[in-house]
Amino acid sequence: MLYRIARTGLFQFSAETAHEFAVNNIRRLHGTPLDLFYRQNLPTRSVEVMGLTFKNPVGLAAGMDKNGEAIDGFGAIGFGFLEVGTVTPRPQPGNDKPRCFRILEAEGIVNRMGFNNEGVDQLVENVKKAKYDGIIGINIGKNKDTPIEKGTEDYLICMEKVYPHAGYIAANISSPNTPGLRTLQYGEALDELLAALKQKQLELEKQHNKYVPLALKIAPDLSDDELVQICDSLKKHKIDGVIATNTTLDRTLVEGMKNASETGGLSGKPLQSRSTEVVRQLYQQLGEEIPIIGVGGIDSYIAAKEKMQAGAKLVQVYSGFIYRGPELIKEIVKNI
Ligand SMILES: Cc1cc2nc3c(=O)[nH]c(=O)nc-3n(C[C@H](O)[C@H](O)[C@H](O)COP(=O)(O)O)c2cc1C
Repeated sequence: MLYRIARTGLFQFSAETAHEFAVNNIRRLHGTPLDLFYRQNLPTRSVEVMGLTFKNPVGLAAGMDKNGEAIDGFGAIGFGFLEVGTVTPRPQPGNDKPRCFRILEAEGIVNRMGFNNEGVDQLVENVKKAKYDGIIGINIGKNKDTPIEKGTEDYLICMEKVYPHAGYIAANISSPNTPGLRTLQYGEALDELLAALKQKQLELEKQHNKYVPLALKIAPDLSDDELVQICDSLKKHKIDGVIATNTTLDRTLVEGMKNASETGGLSGKPLQSRSTEVVRQLYQQLGEEIPIIGVGGIDSYIAAKEKMQAGAKLVQVYSGFIYRGPELIKEIVKNI
């Protein structure tokens, strides 16, 4: 109810302004009496995934808190885990504004943010300061001006810096808003990237005396064959998890609606069934060998349950949280 009122106000502003306002206030109000606007005491629903214990299986998806500025505030909402980032080695401004749009009719969002972030060093500082007792995943990517052939180096730089501070690391190769990035999802490029990441993970494990699981985040816009190939690579390189999915380029379900033709990736309800289908296909290949984190259009307990029935061990939300607020997290965690 409270969020419904807040949403009416927030939705008067552009999607990005509303987002900044909300994240700033979640950060600023945390620890003050006013955090009652979002603080929720949710029941524990522990799950073991990737060798980690999550207090509940509902996480915040990457991109909401790109710099890890509001970790404790988001933690107070009751998420079982938070994925911060995507972060790149060097700070970068992202694409020109406006770059984020609501598709109200469909409860969708189109964004072409382009990994705007303050760089990995700042993110690490923020994560170090956080008191949140849940799992913090750190999502890493490449800078826009790093040539794609050198992309692996950017992932390795980020990995090295975040490793000691991360519950798990997610390599994002599926944003449609960094030119060339999605080419890393195919064939030899993927094999080489995963081999390099795995090798680095094992080196860092020795160095820090701690094993930090590594997950790969993939797009929904992949053919059945491409998904099979990705699963083969994940198994071959013993990657610990897969996050499915990022935003889609497909506009079929929003055709003709306001903002539908904006360039970028579409998320929210119009992505729901496709991302569930990807989870299902991944599960057919991976079974219980490699856990799947399901994300895309989760806007209710039922939608979260569908992802889990398709094979996801954990779920994440982004757009659903924009449309429904903290109450969505409560609804899912309570019923799961
Ligand atoms: C404005 C916006 C920014 C995003 N930024 C990132 C990002 O930096 N890294 C990433 O891996 N995913 C990012 N995502 C994708 C989400 O993490 C998620 O995979 C996608 O939105 C599907 O989930 P949803 O339908 O619940 O929003 C972003 C999504 C939105 C809407």
